[in-house]
Amino acid sequence: MLAAAMRILFLTHSFNSLSQRLFVELRRLGHEISIEFDINDRVTEEAVALCRPDLVIAPFLKRAIPESVWRQTLCWIVHPGPVGDRGPAALDWAIEEDAAQWGVTVLQADAQMDAGDVWASAGFPMRAGSKSSLYRREVADAAVRAVTLALERLQDPDFRPAALPENPDGSRGRWRPAIKAAQRRIDWGNDSAAGVLRRLRAADGFPGVRDEILGLPVRLFNAWPESSLRGEPGAVIATRDGAICRATRDAAVWITHLRGIGSGQGDLKLPAVQVLGADRLNGVPEIPLDPFAVVGGDTWREIECRTAGGVGYLSFEFHNGAMSTEQCRRLLAAWERLRQTSARVLVLLGGSDFWSNGIHLHRIEAEATPADASWDNIEAMNDLTRAIIETDDRLVIAALRGNAGAGGVFLALAADEVWAAPGVVLNPHYKNMGNLYGSEYWTYLLPRRAGVDGARIIMGNRLPLGAPEALQAGLLDAVFGSDAADFAERVSLRAEDLVAAPDLPDRLQAKQARRRQDEARRPLADYREEEMRHMRLNFFGFDPSYHVARYNFVHRVPQSRTPLHLALHRRIGAAGGKDATARTRT
Ligand code: COA
Repeated sequence: MLAAAMRILFLTHSFNSLSQRLFVELRRLGHEISIEFDINDRVTEEAVALCRPDLVIAPFLKRAIPESVWRQTLCWIVHPGPVGDRGPAALDWAIEEDAAQWGVTVLQADAQMDAGDVWASAGFPMRAGSKSSLYRREVADAAVRAVTLALERLQDPDFRPAALPENPDGSRGRWRPAIKAAQRRIDWGNDSAAGVLRRLRAADGFPGVRDEILGLPVRLFNAWPESSLRGEPGAVIATRDGAICRATRDAAVWITHLRGIGSGQGDLKLPAVQVLGADRLNGVPEIPLDPFAVVGGDTWREIECRTAGGVGYLSFEFHNGAMSTEQCRRLLAAWERLRQTSARVLVLLGGSDFWSNGIHLHRIEAEATPADASWDNIEAMNDLTRAIIETDDRLVIAALRGNAGAGGVFLALAADEVWAAPGVVLNPHYKNMGNLYGSEYWTYLLPRRAGVDGARIIMGNRLPLGAPEALQAGLLDAVFGSDAADFAERVSLRAEDLVAAPDLPDRLQAKQARRRQDEARRPLADYREEEMRHMRLNFFGFDPSYHVARYNFVHRVPQSRTPLHLALHRRIGAAGGKDATARTRT
């Protein structure tokens, strides 16, 4: 059953990946979605009064919804745990305890946190991945299924949400508190690599495991298994691409990022090697791994190239999709090598969680002169983008397994075809980062796909697009697969079909002709120069908006108000004339 269109208010701590995914999915079903950040009870009450929603959904909330709101309006909490699970560390516990199955539950807000009546739930098998990765993929998919089912049930007059069974003490469900720092501690002398990985993955994204490495207090992020290297348990035994490898009693793990604690570097999350510094790492060998090297067991590398079935693949597992100057240059070098192979179709796979999120704002923030670092980073992104655009003797595919944002989207548009998994969310705009103008040849790449008006609307709206909407807008050429894993498998089959297609030479000829025409009409260098003229003002001009926005972003400064492009109910005259009454609890 398709739910009738409703006015829904999202009450959320931030417009994070899960809120964005639900936003695009529910809008696709015809619902009107307005967003309010959870700032304080009074602001929430004001938002509900202005919006007069049929329903409030809380996709990502760190505080309870005020009673004055849930008593008057139906409110749903999206809880990242199965029915009966309660508390603020649901996924952390699931990973720590190695759960085989997990789920998402849609609960009605009530006096007891996470203990309200259950409207719907959806399960998924757990994967050996970090909390952030599970949250962006499995949890987001299950949340969409559970919320959609709950909305259908809301239309059914006979449906009654189920109460959780009562415990002897009158409480309901199983409350589990936040995990304490001491409970997350790693005992490097005794813990196995599997145990260390679980611990690191359960704390990934936030808060990170607290530890001390080579005398420096830090939090650890983004861990990968290593099956060959060995050493004294706890010792840092190697570095690679900015990551450190630390031995356990039975194997080793790679840790790519650290956040210093009182380090004097602003405690930003940065590559581990950068945080520890050359002096501390003196004597630790750098063990590089060629992007083309074929590896037997588990290890970690950022950039991987391979060829199979006449197709060349390039994946770039950059943490959080952020691409520093140096990472862009290494990626460009790998691209140029891939172009030397006989592969006629080249597939840019991005990373497994993010395709790309553009320039590396954390690395920039850590530099002595962030304006110069921003400039260098965008130049490096531009060099990479240009190399892809100018690859005219190969068919280039960008295959998006995960989300992309800002310059990362336009990097993908440099390909001839852009394919995406169905749950992918794109943010093809820059303005949210302090009115950044943006580069990456977007002024060439976006209008040629979306038209001049379409490009203006997409850039101006500053809203996320789901894969189907991006397809409709012309940004994508194909959306397929039942989920990200299925998508990845089908990418190879499709790419091999392209290699085998009799019209491949014609397509390449047409591509060369089009590039020549485009270049004659307006040279690529011209687009770049014009974009960089604006960027110069963003980076070096009098208006500090970009620098302020970047600082707030990397330091996760809480929002003090919801921007008007999200809070429709706060636009002048927004809720006026709405006669639908809020659904009142009985
Ligand atoms: N540089 C550095 N870190 C970045 C990043 C970037 N360009 N984009 C995202 N990240 C990091 C975030 O800091 C966060 O770090 P965490 O591990 O401490 O949580 C993590 O990636 C996830 O980001 P978050 O904003 O929580 O993810 P999301 O899926 O909810 O939102 C975006 C995705 C793309 C909308 C959002 O991350 C964003 O606006 N990024 C900035 C894009 C940008 O302006 N790039 C520069 C211009 S090219």
